[in-house]
Amino acid sequence: MRRRNTVAAIDVGTTKVAVIVSDLGERGELRVLGFGVAPASGLSRGVIDNIQSARQAIATAVEKAEQSCGMRILSAVVGISGAHIASQNNRGIIAIPDRSRPISVDDRARVLEAAGQIAIPTNRQILHVIPRGYWVEGTDPVSDPVGMYGSRLDAETHIITAATSAVQNLTKCVEGAGVQVDEVIVEPLASAACVLTEQERLQGAAVVDIGGGTTSIAVYDEGAVAHTACLPIAGSHLTHDLARVLRCPWESAERVKCERGAAWVMPDLEHETVEIAAFGTQSQKIVPLRHVCEILQARSEEILEMVAIELKRAGYFDRIAAGLVLTGGGAQLRGLAELAEARLGIPARVGRPEGYTGLRDLIGTPAFATAIGLAAFALAEREHAAEPVASFEMPGTGIFKRLLSLGRALMPQ
Ligand SMILES: Nc1ncnc2c1ncn2[C@@H]1O[C@H](COP(=O)(O)OP(=O)(O)OP(=O)(O)O)[C@@H](O)[C@H]1O
Ligand SMILES: [Mg+2]
Repeated sequence: MRRRNTVAAIDVGTTKVAVIVSDLGERGELRVLGFGVAPASGLSRGVIDNIQSARQAIATAVEKAEQSCGMRILSAVVGISGAHIASQNNRGIIAIPDRSRPISVDDRARVLEAAGQIAIPTNRQILHVIPRGYWVEGTDPVSDPVGMYGSRLDAETHIITAATSAVQNLTKCVEGAGVQVDEVIVEPLASAACVLTEQERLQGAAVVDIGGGTTSIAVYDEGAVAHTACLPIAGSHLTHDLARVLRCPWESAERVKCERGAAWVMPDLEHETVEIAAFGTQSQKIVPLRHVCEILQARSEEILEMVAIELKRAGYFDRIAAGLVLTGGGAQLRGLAELAEARLGIPARVGRPEGYTGLRDLIGTPAFATAIGLAAFALAEREHAAEPVASFEMPGTGIFKRLLSLGRALMPQ
C-alpha cells in the first residue's frame, strides 16, 4: 500500500502567491487537498525586492491553504524564478576499473558527481543537476547504465544555477511566514512537469511560462530537459502598455486585457468598442477594441521574439518539433498561440496543468501550472525519501517529523 504522505508547494509569483497541498490519490495520481492564493507584493520580475511585503503575502496564502485543508503547513517545496537563473549542460567521464563486473548504482552516482562539477562564481549556487543521458564506452546513449558492462562511463547533466542572494531572500521570506523550505525548484521545470505530454518531451518542446513579471522557459529534447532560462518580461508589461497608451488606471487596463483583450485583431473584434476608466474630467471613456488589441499585439510579439532569440541562442529553436507550449497566467491572452505560430513559424499551444485530481474548477488554469508542478515534484521527492516523513501538523495529533534533507539530484520525469 502506498504511504499516504501530504506535501505542500508554494509558488511565489510576481502577481500572486499560490500554495497547494496535495497527496497521492488511490491510483498514484497527484490529488489536490487544499489551496490558497494571495496577491503578491514585494516582488519585481520574479525576484523579492521587499522582504516584509513578500513575507506577508506568503503568510496570507499559506493561511488560506491551511484553512482549506484543515492542516498546518510546516514545510514546503518552493519555486524560484528571475533573470538570475542560468543553465548549462556538462559532461563527466569515469573509468570502471574492473570491467568484469556490471556498472553499479555507485558508479552511476560517481559519474553524475563528475558531470555536476562546474566552476561558478561565489555569489551563485547550483540548484539542480539533472541527468540527461549516459554513454557506456562512448557508444549510443543509454537511459540507465546500471547492470551494463564497460570500462568507461560518460554522463551528461543539465545544471541550473541561481544567484545565492535571491535563493536566500526567498528562503528567509518563506521561513518568516512560518514554513520551513524543503527544497527550492526552478519554476519552469515545475510548469513543464504538468503541462508537457510525453510525446512533446521526446520530440522536443519548449514550455514558456508567461507570468506577471517573468517569462520562464524550459526546453525538453529527447525526453530530458536541455535548457532553462528566465526573461524579465511578461504579462504585466502588457497591462502597463495599455495603461500608458490609453491613459487609464492599471486596474482598468488589467481588466480590459483579461476580459476583452486578444494578441491580435481577430475579425470578430474589429468593430467592437470597450469602456475603460479614465483620468481627468471624465470617469469613463470608450475606445475601439481594435486599438487595445494592437497595443497587446506589439508587446506579445516582443515577448515571443525574445523567447525565439533565447531558443536560437541555445541552439534549440530548430530542434523542437513540438514547438512551444505556452502556460502561466499570461498564456490566457486570447489568440496568443495563433500569434506565436504565425510569427515564429513553429507549432504552439496553450498548456493547462494535467495529471491531477481535486479542485480542478479552481486551479485548472495555466496560472496554476507552476504550483501544481511544484506539488508533483514534492510528491516525487517524498516517494524517494528513505523514511516516512511529514511536513504537516494535523490538528490535535502533535508535530510530525520534519522532512529530511533529501539531497538527491532531480531526475527527469
Ligand atoms: N485572461 C487573461 N488574459 C491575459 N492575461 C491574463 C489573463 N489572466 C491572467 N493574465 C495575466 O497573467 C499574469 C499573471 O500570471 P501568473 O499568475 O502566472 O504570474 P505569476 O506567477 O504571479 O508571476 P511570475 O511567474 O512572473 O513571477 C498577469 O500579468 C495577468 O494580467
Ligand atoms: Mg509564475
